[in-house]
Amino acid sequence: MLSEKMQDALNAQMNWEIYSAHIYLSMAAHFSGAGLSGFSTWMYAQYQEEMFHAMRFFNYINEAGGHAKLGTIDAPPYEWKTPLAAFENALEHEQGVTARINDLADLAIAEKNHAVGIFLQWFISEQVEEEDTVGDIVVFTPPTNA
Ligand code: FEO
Repeated sequence: MLSEKMQDALNAQMNWEIYSAHIYLSMAAHFSGAGLSGFSTWMYAQYQEEMFHAMRFFNYINEAGGHAKLGTIDAPPYEWKTPLAAFENALEHEQGVTARINDLADLAIAEKNHAVGIFLQWFISEQVEEEDTVGDIVVFTPPTNA
């Protein structure tokens, strides 16, 4: 059972995960065009992960008696000055995702919705890994293409 407020919040996150996917897909295209196929492949894998995240929300909302509602997805950026700029953008984006997941977890606590809280625990752990993975790449990516 989902309150209307909770359903809206879960739907917003589902759509944000799709937006996240589009950012990574856009980065994959950017790196492909720059001849950096390794980076492009890595970004494409992130795109697939984000769509998997979105589908976790989609399925959960429907299973919990709600209605997964697809919304308008903003166009992502499509070019970055350097590979480092793209990975810094990715890290900043993931930190924002973490904040959104934490806000959702706070809402679950406020509503005493323990089922949603348990559902969100997977995402709380996943965000630690996501920030760590892209953070490591930021550390080791030189500031220019040279
Ligand atoms: Fe679905 Fe990278 O957060």
